[in-house]
Amino acid sequence: MPYYRSVGSIPPKRHTQHRRADGTLLYEELTGSDGFSSDSSLLYHLHQPSQLLDVAPWDLGDQSLHPNEPFLPRHVRTHTLFPDGTAVDAVDGRRLLLGNDDVRLCYVAATAPSPLYRNAIGDECLFVEDGDAVVETTFGDLVVGAGDYVVIPRGTDHRIVPTGTGPLRCYVIESSSRIRPPRRFLSPTGQFLEHAPYCERDLRPPTAPRIVDDGPTTVHVKHRGAGRGGVTGTAYTLAHHPFDVVGWDGCRYPYAFSVHDYEPITGRIHQPPPSHQVFEADRFVVCNFVPRKVDYHPLAIPAPYYHANVDSDEVIFYAGGNYAARRGSGIGQGSLSLHPGGHTHGPHPGAYERSIGVEAVDELAVMVDTFAPLWLGEGGRSALAEGYERTWSIPPGP
Ligand SMILES: [Fe+2]
Repeated sequence: MPYYRSVGSIPPKRHTQHRRADGTLLYEELTGSDGFSSDSSLLYHLHQPSQLLDVAPWDLGDQSLHPNEPFLPRHVRTHTLFPDGTAVDAVDGRRLLLGNDDVRLCYVAATAPSPLYRNAIGDECLFVEDGDAVVETTFGDLVVGAGDYVVIPRGTDHRIVPTGTGPLRCYVIESSSRIRPPRRFLSPTGQFLEHAPYCERDLRPPTAPRIVDDGPTTVHVKHRGAGRGGVTGTAYTLAHHPFDVVGWDGCRYPYAFSVHDYEPITGRIHQPPPSHQVFEADRFVVCNFVPRKVDYHPLAIPAPYYHANVDSDEVIFYAGGNYAARRGSGIGQGSLSLHPGGHTHGPHPGAYERSIGVEAVDELAVMVDTFAPLWLGEGGRSALAEGYERTWSIPPGP
């Protein structure tokens, strides 16, 4: 995280005594990135956070990944994975669509509160396609809704509680590394620069502690191990509920950020995907395509040019609006496309020509570009649209 925050009760000097009103000593915990060499926060607990009473296996379901063979572009209809009435939560109910060693892309339509959960592999970024929720964390609550990114640092205990009348639809980016604003958006000391498409005012971190002073509590921990796909689950029983933090400060904490607060960069001619970047991690980036005015050169072609992005696999989650370049392909709300590196793709038939003279688009999509090939997970293989690779060869629609 790029900037410092302080929430709740903390002592004036770090690593000194901090006590409850009755004089009982509080317990300081440092949560940090890259060992002790990067951003961190200090949290003050009512109880020792290290009191582990019991462990048990936590079954994560099928985490296996299968190579993209034959080598094809893919279309995954995520909504078909969750027929109406499916009662799942936003942690156990996730279906793995695509993944590699750097990132796992999942989808879930949740109706029930999740268990307490900790990802010990890397940061997570939830993109809320639809619905409302409170994400309860050791740092406090995040109230989120459609269009929100929710960035949760590795190791943060949290619970996802749907609060709307419909399911909480989430596209989940499980990283193996930190998820952060692109370095080129930031000053050497971490402030957003003037050319960045969003800034500190757009980020919504917790603003008050959430305190649950309770006894033994189970937290589900996802971690590297010998499970299928190299990912394993363990259920920790802690002596006390982890939401016992009376205050914290630092530069590492969860936050929400609405895609609708992202100010797109436009130009006279077509702007490439990096101009739409929102986050970066090790060996993948996140970009978003938001409603915007488009290219205003008198001879501009606003639709993307054909490309093979040979050094990356490109995944687009279609979250709203009308993605004109994919018209006629079968792609719609909740679809996910994989255009692997080395496969030449671009607008579907007719879209290139139709875009000439268009002044604005209303598309809303989240793109993940990975530098290593993505393989197909159980959910991805279960919801594949047949024949997507041939949709560039059909006659143009009206
Ligand atoms: Fe592309």
